[in-house]
Amino acid sequence: MLRPVITIDGPSASGKGTVAALVARELGFHYLDSGALYRLAALYALREGVSWEDENQVARLAAQLPAAFTDDKVWLDGHDVSAAIRAEDIGMGASRIAALPSVRAALLERQRAYQQTPGLVADGRDMGSVVFPRAELKVFLTASAEERAARRYKQLIAKGESANLPQIQQDICDRDARDAARSVAPLRQEPDARLLDTSALTIDQAVKQVLQWFRER
Ligand code: DC
Repeated sequence: MLRPVITIDGPSASGKGTVAALVARELGFHYLDSGALYRLAALYALREGVSWEDENQVARLAAQLPAAFTDDKVWLDGHDVSAAIRAEDIGMGASRIAALPSVRAALLERQRAYQQTPGLVADGRDMGSVVFPRAELKVFLTASAEERAARRYKQLIAKGESANLPQIQQDICDRDARDAARSVAPLRQEPDARLLDTSALTIDQAVKQVLQWFRER
């Protein structure tokens, strides 16, 4: 229990990133946004002119990702890419390269290195199943596709971007299907993970629930 780990896995736009970051802040733990690493690798490949289908080359780039995380920014090769990695096409690219076994292997140790005192909250798809299988608390955080699409839609509108709700919902369903169907580390609820459906919960309620489960162990 020197370096306890809480894993929060779930589908895209479920709010797991927000919840995980707040739980980490509340406990004073480190926070790993593993999706950002896949997004960074996809963006890096794009910028280096490497196709997302080219497993060996993408894995080579992922293994030497010149990335850094500061308080609220993400850097690639010295450039602030915080907004760029959140673009919809980079999310799709991340989902594509995440299906390549050598890319996942290239990022494995980098993710495990985040397990440091006083503890870690890690969010992603395979945090509880592959990266931290012995985590103290595993949560599978989800919400209905309709609710997730509505949340993403509101975020985009708030950022002043144009958004099409049916298209967003379709993209979310396509990404879920690809993340769940891949042969390596597919998205699914592990038998030892607790289910947290946030469709009808506020962020605050979701955070409280995770903290309560962690304290109850
Ligand atoms: O959580 P996110 O939307 O930022 O993740 C982007 C993509 O990366 C997502 O489609 C699936 C992939 N991913 C993954 O396969 N494993 C993880 N641990 C995190 C993300």
